[in-house]
Amino acid sequence: MIIEPRTRGFICLTSHPVGCEQNVLSQIDYIKSNPTTNGPKKVLVIGASTGFGLASRITSAYGSNASTIGVFFEKPPTEGRPASPGWYNSAAFETQAHKDGLYAKSINGDAFSNEIKAQTLKLIQDDLGKIDMVIYSLASPVRTHPDTGERFKSVLKPIGETFTNNTVDFHTGVVKEISIEPCSGDDIENTIAVMGGEDWQMWIDLLKSADVLSEDFKTVAYSYIGPSLTEAVYRKGTIGRAKDHLEATAFEITDSLKDINGKGYVSVNKALVTQASSAIPVIPLYISLLYKVMKEEGIHEGCIEQIERLFNERLYAEDLQLDAQGRIRVDDWEMRDDIQAKVLELWKEATTETLPEIGDLEGYRTDFFNLFGFNVEGVDYDKDVNEMVAIPGLQ
Ligand code: NAI
Ligand code: NA
Repeated sequence: MIIEPRTRGFICLTSHPVGCEQNVLSQIDYIKSNPTTNGPKKVLVIGASTGFGLASRITSAYGSNASTIGVFFEKPPTEGRPASPGWYNSAAFETQAHKDGLYAKSINGDAFSNEIKAQTLKLIQDDLGKIDMVIYSLASPVRTHPDTGERFKSVLKPIGETFTNNTVDFHTGVVKEISIEPCSGDDIENTIAVMGGEDWQMWIDLLKSADVLSEDFKTVAYSYIGPSLTEAVYRKGTIGRAKDHLEATAFEITDSLKDINGKGYVSVNKALVTQASSAIPVIPLYISLLYKVMKEEGIHEGCIEQIERLFNERLYAEDLQLDAQGRIRVDDWEMRDDIQAKVLELWKEATTETLPEIGDLEGYRTDFFNLFGFNVEGVDYDKDVNEMVAIPGLQ
C-alpha cells in the first residue's frame, strides 16, 4: 500500500515501515562508529521500541555486541492498516541484529502487568541466564496496578496555581497563550503511580529475587528537569512529582542490590521531540527555540547521540559526573547558561510571525514526522510498501 501521514492533534495515526527502518539503520551506523569500551553484554530494555529506549537498545547491541530483550507496547499491523511506529522500529532492529549475529528478542504487552514481567523473566532464564543491565524507559499516560487492578491516569498540570504562557501548534505555526488549570483531587498521586518509580522497583525486585542479575549490575531510568520557563508545568508540576519519586527510587534500588554491588541510576536527558513530549503544552515552543540555538552552537543531539554519550562518557567511563542529587546529567549542554540565556531572549520575541525565523519549527516538524517514518531522507514514499511486517524475535 501507499502510506501517507494522517495526523490528529499531537499524534500521527499512520506510520511508514521503510522510513522507520531507515531511521533504525542510521542509528545503528552512528553507534558502529562510536562503540563502547567494556559496555554491557546482556541487556533488558523496558520501553525499547521508540525514543530513548530504542536508542539504548541500539547502543547496547551495536556498541558492545550485547544480547538484548526488548519490552514494549505497540500495535501490530492489520491488512491495509499500518502498525504503530515502534512495531516497525523493532522489526527493523531485530531483522538487522539477527543478520549481524546478535541475539535480539522481544515481548509486546503491558510492562506494568505481572504477566509480562513473568514472561520476560522466563525468557531471561531460558536464554540469557544473568543480565548486567536494565534500561527503564517507559512513557505512558496510564497504568493499571498489577496487584489492586486500579487504573491510574497521569496528568500534565501545574500544582497550586494556573499556569499561563505561550505555546505553538507546530502543525500550523500559530503561537498563542494558553492557560492550564492547577491539578486537583488525586492528580499528583495518580501521576506518581504511573510515571514514578514503583513499577521500576517491582521489575528489579522480581529479577533480583529470581537471581538473574549479575555482579556489578546496573539499571538506569530517564528523567527530565528543563528550564524555569517550563518549570510550573513540568518539573514543579504533577509530572515533576513523579520524576522526584523516580529519582528517589534509584537510591532504594541501589540499597536493595548491595550484595551484588548493583546500582540504580537516573539519567537526566535533553528535551527532544518524541511522542511523549509533543503532548506537553509549552514544550514544543521551547524545543523549537532550543533546537535553533543548539544547532547554531553545533551541540544539537538526538536520542542516539544522547544515549551514546550516556554510555561512553558516563556509565562506562571512569567518572559518572553525578550532580549534587546523585543524578547523571546528559542535559548538560541544554542547560548551559549561555544556551538558556539565548533561549530566554528568543522566547520573549516569539510570535506566529517571528518563529519561522528565530526558531527551528521546521526541525521540530521534521523530527515529529520522522518519529512515524515520514519525511525521512532517501525514502520513496510513492512506492508501494508491505504494511504486514513481522518482528522476527517477537515471543
Ligand atoms: P517514547 O514515547 O518514545 O517511548 C515510550 C516507550 O514505552 C515505547 O517503547 C512504548 O512502547 C513503551 N510503553 C509505553 N507504555 C507501555 C506499557 N504499558 N508497557 C510496555 N511498554 C510501554 O518516550 P521517550 O520520550 O523515549 O521517554 C522515555 C523516558 O525518557 C520517559 O521516562 C521520559 O520522561 C524520559 N525523558 C524524555 C524526554 C523527552 O524530551 N522526550 C527528555 C528526558 C527524559
Ligand atoms: Na523509550
